[in-house]
Amino acid sequence: TYAVTDNCIGCKYTDCVSVCPVDCFYEGVNMLVINPEECIDCGVCEPECPADAIRADTDEEGAKWVAFNARYASLWPVIAAAKEPLPGAEANDGLPGKRDTIFS
Ligand code: SF4
Ligand code: F3S
Repeated sequence: TYAVTDNCIGCKYTDCVSVCPVDCFYEGVNMLVINPEECIDCGVCEPECPADAIRADTDEEGAKWVAFNARYASLWPVIAAAKEPLPGAEANDGLPGKRDTIFS
């Protein structure tokens, strides 16, 4: 599977959503996650993210986020169409410690 990592927080560009062939992205207020049971590992979303927030689970960083993605995919609604990024997306892109500062 692929997983959304913390650099999505506060950005939510949603370019990933427009390319996913199986609509397996789920939307929280601050970020998206991927449902690992639905992701077909096609990999097309990874290079599309302007914030470089998507990783394969074969990647060390990606592997750390799979359980988080699975958990919130079961709680959040599916998102099937791209939308405007969050306000401040550019300023939030690359901020360190996002999970603690924005998601608390
Ligand atoms: Fe969707 Fe493919 Fe990305 Fe999985 S790897 S989330 S199937 S675009
Ligand atoms: Fe997030 Fe990147 Fe998609 S910022 S919403 S994972 S395009």
